[in-house]
Order: sequence, then C-alpha cells, then structure tokens
Amino acid sequence: MIYHRRLANKAAVVTGAGSGIGRASARLFAAEGARVICADRAADGLGETVDLINRAGGKAIAVTTDTADEPAVRALVERCQADFGALDVFYANAGISGGMVPLLEQSVELWQEILRVNLIGPFLAIKYASPVMIAQGQGSIVCTASVAGLRANAGGTPYSASKAGVISLVQTSANALLGTGVRVNAVCPGLIETGMTKPMFDGARARGSEAKIGQLNPMQRFGVPEEIAQMALFLASDDASYVNGQAFAVDGGLSSTHPFAKPRR
Ligand SMILES: NC(=O)c1ccc[n+]([C@@H]2O[C@H](COP(=O)([O-])OP(=O)(O)OC[C@H]3O[C@@H](n4cnc5c(N)ncnc54)[C@H](O)[C@@H]3O)[C@@H](O)[C@H]2O)c1
Repeated sequence: MIYHRRLANKAAVVTGAGSGIGRASARLFAAEGARVICADRAADGLGETVDLINRAGGKAIAVTTDTADEPAVRALVERCQADFGALDVFYANAGISGGMVPLLEQSVELWQEILRVNLIGPFLAIKYASPVMIAQGQGSIVCTASVAGLRANAGGTPYSASKAGVISLVQTSANALLGTGVRVNAVCPGLIETGMTKPMFDGARARGSEAKIGQLNPMQRFGVPEEIAQMALFLASDDASYVNGQAFAVDGGLSSTHPFAKPRR
C-alpha cells in the first residue's frame, strides 16, 4: 500500500475504533499522517487497534468510552485538543445493529438504544466537534450511515431508521454550519465483513453457503473494512474540500439496482 500523507498534521477522533470499519479507518488515517484518538467501549479491541497503529510508527491514543454519552463525547473532543492541539477530523462511526427482531415485537427500549448509539452519537460528535472546527476555520465530520438508511432489507427497522436519520443529520448539519468551513458527510457501507456481520458470515460458512454472500450487488462479493476506510479518508481529507452534506454509498453497486436476475453470458 502506498500512502500519500493526505492527513499530514491533522488531529482526528475515530469512534468504534476497536473493530471493523473504525479500526481500518483509524489505521488508514494514521498511516496517512493523522494523530488519532481512538474511542470504543470495548477496551480489548481498542487496545489492539492502538497497538497496531503505534507499532507501525503512527500516533494513536485509546479512550475507552461510550460514544453516545454527552459528557463522554465532549471529553473526547477536549482530549484531542489537549493532546494534539487541534481537532481536524471527527469520524463518528460507532454503531450497533440491534439484531433482527420482528417489527411487532420491537420494544421502545430497543429503539431508544439503537437511536442513542447510531444517531444521537453522531449528533453529539457534530455538537462538540464543530465549535472547535469553526474556531480553526476548517474541519471535516464524517458519519457512518448505511445502505440500510437508503431503503429496506439491509437491517432491522430501528437500525434502518437510525441510519436514514444519519443521512438527514449530515444534510441538515452541513446546512446549519453554513459559512463556517466545516464539512459534514456520511458514508453508506453495503455488506462488509466486520464484528457486526460476523454472525451472518459464520452462519453462512457453517451452512457451506459462503459463496452466496454478497451476490445481490453487481460486484457479486461482500466488502472489507479497508474499502470503507478509503471513502472515510477521502471525506476527511482536503481532497474533499468541496464535498459537503452528502451520503456516499460504498456497496459494490447494491443500492443502484432493482432486484435482478443474473444475466446469461
Ligand atoms: N458491517 C457492515 O456490513 C455495515 C454496513 C453498513 C453500516 N455499517 C456501520 O458501520 C459502523 C461500524 O460497524 P462495523 O461494521 O465496523 O461493526 P463492528 O461491530 O465491527 O464495530 C463497531 C464498533 O463500535 C463499537 N461501539 C458500539 N457502540 C458503541 C458505543 N456506544 N460507544 C463506543 N463504542 C461503541 C463496538 O464496540 C465496536 O468495536 C456502524 O455504524 C455500522 O452500523 C456496517
């Protein structure tokens, strides 16, 4: 892999950095020159991420925390400023799926927890990161939404609603922050092999149906976290200096299609 120092001298926070997309993004951001505050509530995975970065010559600090808790998010922003002297990038990526509970069996508590982590977490990131970025005159906030936020059948009902909310959040926040130099965008991953999707992958492998995974998109495969990290890097970097208020699908083309039958060749 060739790196281009696209985040040289930048200070970043990445949430959900203990696993999957967050880990891959924190590693890529660091390899591209950023100093990274890595946040997750899972201390073990977080420790591994930070070790991987620091052993590779990068600079990362682990903060074990709940990234949907208001004082905790404020503290993450303060920590980044205190340790790195700035906050240029906040990648609000932590999320939970909430499982596949049938609609009529879902509880209010299930909805509240999914919305808290997946939607209020990114809102808090914007609330506390943007004043610092406004004072600096620039900054990039990236949120992880999902193709589940675009249409049905890529996740449970509350999960999909939370991710649709994230897409609206980046649109409305980018506009609320007009004229400040702060950009707010989202990435909408398709099916990616991570801790979140592990049960599905494990189940398919156990049934011997692994070859079917990811066949619904025109690339006919699932994605890996590093492929989402590349979009997060672009949005975080100055390469995306005129990109604002958008949600980009990185899904092998899944969200571009109607259901289709495989053409004969
Ligand atoms: N894997 C996919 O196919 C897929 C598809 C679309 C969107 N996403 C989204 O990507 C993001 C990253 O998920 P992933 O697939 O890498 O899953 P993952 O489970 O591997 O990683 C998510 C990380 O977030 C952390 N986390 C969850 N809630 C937290 C909280 N309240 N405070 C702190 N940390 C918390 C977890 O501990 C975990 O380390 C999520 O927002 C998810 O919804 C994933």
